[in-house]
Amino acid sequence: MIPQQNMQDLSSKKVPDWLVRPPTHLGIIMDGNGRWAQRRHLPRVAGHRQGAQAVRRTVTACRSWGIRYLTLYAFSWENWKRSRIEVDALMHLLEDYLDREESLMIEQSIRFRAIGDRTRLPRSVSRRLEDVERSTGDGRAMNLTLALSYSGREEVLEAARRMAFDAMAGKVDPAQMTQEDFGRYLASAVLPPPDLLIRTSGEFRISNFLLWQIAYTELYFTAVLWPDFGDEDLKQALMDFQERQRRFGAESGSPEPTSRTTGA
Ligand code: IPE
Ligand code: IPE
Ligand code: MG
Repeated sequence: MIPQQNMQDLSSKKVPDWLVRPPTHLGIIMDGNGRWAQRRHLPRVAGHRQGAQAVRRTVTACRSWGIRYLTLYAFSWENWKRSRIEVDALMHLLEDYLDREESLMIEQSIRFRAIGDRTRLPRSVSRRLEDVERSTGDGRAMNLTLALSYSGREEVLEAARRMAFDAMAGKVDPAQMTQEDFGRYLASAVLPPPDLLIRTSGEFRISNFLLWQIAYTELYFTAVLWPDFGDEDLKQALMDFQERQRRFGAESGSPEPTSRTTGA
């Protein structure tokens, strides 16, 4: 028997006809808020505020188009270098986002998670993150993960540290360790590797996002600034992704193997 909640999940999805091969996991490096504001002679925070609207749009579109995992890079570990004014404004926007969206996420069966170094976040923010992770914990329709105070290298280092402690305690044998075993130590172990990674604003770099996980991810770069990123831009990226032939190292023409090594 299908539980009541799952029946609702299925009925509220409208997978569009053109989306024949959606990525299971979509990651987005949401860049360009500052330039969006600068071009309008507005303070940078105005760009971030507008960026939050683009987050809302994108989450809604992905949820209704049946994308199972969406991971958004919202604030990097290196972004702590920015001015106090900008960082404070971003933290406020984040709290505001969580307050406004929590009930909608529960209603839409979206499971929220955050990855990154929480020790550097203001206490009020980390408390809100825990609240929302708890209150949306039963969500099954989509997994929304925010990378906050996040660094791919730190994530790998932390995993290596935890593995080393387990080895010292005699719980694991480093000589026998496989990529899959190691992957389980990552904070993002519950997420499958991203199939598609979008970066906005015309920059062609990864900026320390999900380094371990993107080994075979398809990359898509667009000049559109994040606050302007809309459903049409997302559609274009997804259409482009559908045309790609993923080989994972195998010869061309062979059936597409799966990239999945972990999954929730
Ligand atoms: C992305 O926009 C948001 C964060 C990194 C927090 P930016 O603030 O980096 O915008 P640009 O790159 O300066 O235009
Ligand atoms: C990457 O953007 C981080 C986020 C989008 C949150 P940045 O604007 O910080 O990246 P760089 O400094 O241009 O590489
Ligand atoms: Mg930037």
